[in-house]
Amino acid sequence: MKTEYVEVDGRNPDSAALGRPAEILRNGGLVAFPTETVYGLGANGLDGEACRKIFAAKERPADNPLILHVADIEGMKPLVRGLDEGLIPLLEAAWPGPLTVVLRRSELVPDVVTAGGDTVAVRCPSHPVARELIRLAGVSVAAPSANRSGRPSPTNAKDVLEDMDGRVDCVVDGGACAIGIESTVVDLTETPAVILRPGFYTEEYLGRFLPGVTLDDALVDDAAIPRSPGQKYRHYAPKARLTVYVGEPETVRRRIIREIGEARARGKKAGALLFEGGEAPEADLVLRQGTREDLVAMSKGLFSSLRAFDRAGVDVIFAEGAPRGSEYARSIMNRLRKSASGRVIELG
Ligand code: TXA
Ligand code: MG
Repeated sequence: MKTEYVEVDGRNPDSAALGRPAEILRNGGLVAFPTETVYGLGANGLDGEACRKIFAAKERPADNPLILHVADIEGMKPLVRGLDEGLIPLLEAAWPGPLTVVLRRSELVPDVVTAGGDTVAVRCPSHPVARELIRLAGVSVAAPSANRSGRPSPTNAKDVLEDMDGRVDCVVDGGACAIGIESTVVDLTETPAVILRPGFYTEEYLGRFLPGVTLDDALVDDAAIPRSPGQKYRHYAPKARLTVYVGEPETVRRRIIREIGEARARGKKAGALLFEGGEAPEADLVLRQGTREDLVAMSKGLFSSLRAFDRAGVDVIFAEGAPRGSEYARSIMNRLRKSASGRVIELG
């Protein structure tokens, strides 16, 4: 198929320009669009046939359920059963924004969205383009990240096209995503609630509304089986072999410089993903991820950098991990660890 391309102002999108993508969604087609986290691959969330196309375009396993995107709390109510009023303060505080909640599903939700399960994941994005598109479409929008399964999530329209050109009806370009890693997913069907995927909203933040909220064991213990189906698959992986180093900044930098030298001596093309400043290695490609203090800059650029290394044909990537200590650093390291297939080396 020929993929239509629509460019809009990410901060203040022109409703007329979004009319066509909204129509495609209503008519059962696929539209990739920006959210504040990553680009989503959207379909009419109440149309099972349309949602099945998402799985085909992404080559996504059928047992991995989709998130439904809504315009507001009211838009969520028909999709869920027995919403506890006690959850409203959380939703009012965190929405619109990068939080996905898992609740009991209603009859309206197609089986393909929930992968046959009894729960549904719902999120209300804050990105102006996503909000206006959902409003114009007049339906809830099922949208996983707009990458092919296993690849890093796309955080700009060029990266979406790399995976999806010819596989979707339309790509809406609203610029780069501000956060760059996917939403926090929290299961509210259990008490205390359980974080299934870490993200921008941390355990500490959610704990103000959800006393005793915990992280899924699989996020803490590599041997535990994740409760969120998507977490068990290979993820975010660049083609190049990625290794991540964490620890004292000077030690980490020296180690990366050494590794790059050795890799290049073996004839490998080597890339480095580094914080600003310090001595730079003689790598084939050096990409920067902001300062150590600015973790949102780090998450924002993470997936697009991994894709840029692949485009440059790099064989090996050495990256500086997020500094230990903060919960958001843990969310970023959750992605980096998967991208690196577990190769995270702790140095002093
Ligand atoms: O930020 C985001 O959440 C992005 C943007 C596009 O909104 N979407 C996204 O979707 O990351 P996806 O499909 O790539 O990841 C959804 C995650 C998967 O790990 C999936 O298994 C989990 O949410 N999930 C979906 N429905 C679920 C459910 N009913 N119970 C448990 N986990 C669920
Ligand atoms: Mg995904």
